[in-house]
This record gives sequence, C-alpha cells and structure tokens, in this order.
Amino acid sequence: MRPVLGIESSCDDTAAAVLAADGTILAEAVLSQADHAAFGGVVPEIAARAHLAHLPALVAGVMAQAGLGYGDLSAIAASSGPGLIGGLIVGSGFAKGAAIAHALPYIAVNHLEAHALTARLPVLGLNAEFPYLLLLVSGGHCQCIAVDGVGQHVRLGGTIDDAAGEAFDKVAKLLGLGWPGGPALENLAREGKPTAYRLPRPLLGRDGCDFSFSGLKTAVAQLAATFPPGALRRDVAADIAASFQQAVADVVADRAAHAMAMFTKTRAGARLLVAAGGVAANATLRAGLLAACDRAGFRFAAPPLKYCTDNAVMVAWTGIERLRLGQVDGLDTAPRPRWPLDEMRPMPGAA
Ligand code: KG4
Ligand code: ZN
Repeated sequence: MRPVLGIESSCDDTAAAVLAADGTILAEAVLSQADHAAFGGVVPEIAARAHLAHLPALVAGVMAQAGLGYGDLSAIAASSGPGLIGGLIVGSGFAKGAAIAHALPYIAVNHLEAHALTARLPVLGLNAEFPYLLLLVSGGHCQCIAVDGVGQHVRLGGTIDDAAGEAFDKVAKLLGLGWPGGPALENLAREGKPTAYRLPRPLLGRDGCDFSFSGLKTAVAQLAATFPPGALRRDVAADIAASFQQAVADVVADRAAHAMAMFTKTRAGARLLVAAGGVAANATLRAGLLAACDRAGFRFAAPPLKYCTDNAVMVAWTGIERLRLGQVDGLDTAPRPRWPLDEMRPMPGAA
C-alpha cells in the first residue's frame, strides 16, 4: 500500500496530511481560522469560504513537503461528516475531484471515527488495541464511545444539550475572556479557588453516561449577575472560573466512571480510556479522569494536544485503517452534517 492523503474541513480548521501506509507522518499542515474571534464563535459561511480559499495551497504544500505526486498515492480520504456542511462540501468535493483526476479511490471519513482511531496511530505509542473506550470532549462534541473496531462503534452516551467546550466558551465569554475561551478560562482559574462558589453538577451520579452543561452555564450567568454591573473584578472572575472548571471536571469524571462500568460489562478484559478533543487539554479535567481511571483499574491515554484537536493526520490514518480492510466509498457519497457513529455499523440482520 502506498501513502494516503487526508483532508479535514468539518469546522474551522483547514488541514491536510500525507501518511505512509505504516502511519508514518510524511507531511502535515493545519490552518486555524482566526477570522471567527470577532464573532465569538465559528461562523459557518466564513469557515466554508476560508476552506475554499486555503485548501488547494495547503494540499499542494503537504504533497510537496512529502515529495510525492498524486500518482504515488493509494487513496484520498476526507472528512465527510459530521460537521458544518459548507466546509464538508469543500473538503470532500476537493478530494473527489482529485480522486477522479488521478483515478484514485476516495474514502469518506467519519470525523468522529477519525478522532476515535487517532489513539491507534503507531507513532503516538499509545498502543490502543480494540476494544477501548473513547471520551470525546471538544467544542462540537461530547460523547462516550466504545471503539470495537474500524467502523464498529457504540455510542454509550453523550450530551443532551451543550458540548463541554461550548460550555467553556460560553462561560469564558460571560467572564469577558476571548474566544476560544477554554484555554483562557483555564489560565484565569489558576488564580481562583475551585471551592469559592457551589455550582450545580448536572447528572452527577445518574445512571448512564449522558452529559448536560446548559444548567451549569445558566447557574454561572445567574451568579455573575449578582455582582455589580460592568466588568467583574479579576479575583471574582477567577473564583467563578475555578469553580466552574471544577464542576465540569467532577461531572466528566463521574460520567466517564459510569461509561467505564458500562463498557466493561460487555467487554471483559478491555481496560483503556482514551480522551480526545480540545477540552481534553484541560489539566483539572485530566486529573479527574486519571483518578477515575485509577479507581476503575483503567489505563488512561490521551494523544498529544495537536492530535487531540482537529487535524488531517487522523483523517489520513482512518483512510489507511479503512483501506487495509478494503473499505472505499463511491464518488456519489454525500457529506453529512449529522452522521452518528453508530450508523457506521450495519444493524444485525440488516442487508
Ligand atoms: O477539538 P477542538 O479543537 O475543536 C472542535 O470543537 O472540534 O476543541 C475546541 C474546544 C473549544 O471549545 C475550546 O474552548 C476547548 O476545546 N478547549 C479547552 C481547552 N483548550 C481548548 N477547554 C478547556 N480547557 C482547555 N485548556
Ligand atoms: Zn473534531
């Protein structure tokens, strides 16, 4: 098998990467769109136009860096969902066009599966053998997934309202921090006391491993409103940030503990929790997860941050995993803004 080109454009990062068949990264590039900061969140139309403007040069750049032409590739893989439809159309359309022009197979990658399979990228040394449990906590996603094999995933639970990163971003905005707010909030929280304010911990202790963050966000808004109008004093904002962050970490650790129990019930012997997504960068959250893993007898692993957040290495790697199994897609495969992972597994008994 020859190298595979991967393309990512499902949200606000335009990315391309070329991987050798054994997973060696030959070239990679990510362009994070800064244009959304002024709007306090990702603007889909701006994102799509930026992908369109930057993707061709980015792909040409990684191909040149890898020293390869299209004739040297085995396949082209692109994120085909879930995500913002404009960006998905740009990335998958580009990949299909190149596949037609160079008579290469096209692989429509589920972006969530790409996050899930990153832990198997040999160069990371995480040794994630199937099955393992994935906790995906990003700006757009918050779910617990049993990763049983390529194309074989079971969603054990997920958020019923906001994603964890969304909650961080909204609370950061409320505290007058920039966007994306997660890293800024974590920085400010270092100056505050996590026990300063008692905030709700939605769904803590409940059966299953669903998440909910909107009540917590509302509680923070109500708390902030009890202070004089105008900018919050820095020490007050820091205490609120630390209290909020602790509440999220407590909830995530609890939900992960439930997910681990659910996971082992039907998968005896498998004991690995992989965390991915931008929020997995949060040190308080990681500490909570590590403690939960210790209690459950699980190993905890998280890819380095640049492969936790959106990138094209994970897309190319998923392409390789699928190509090894002979799984390629037709050029008529339409990108899907919603594409739950469970739908990748044919239902038992289905044709
Ligand atoms: O995975 P990601 O880069 O993009 C997607 O959403 O797909 O995740 C971005 C999210 C943002 O909501 C950002 O605020 C959050 O991850 N984030 C963090 C931290 N770093 C990034 N949240 C909490 N603490 C952090 N250190
Ligand atoms: Zn993502």
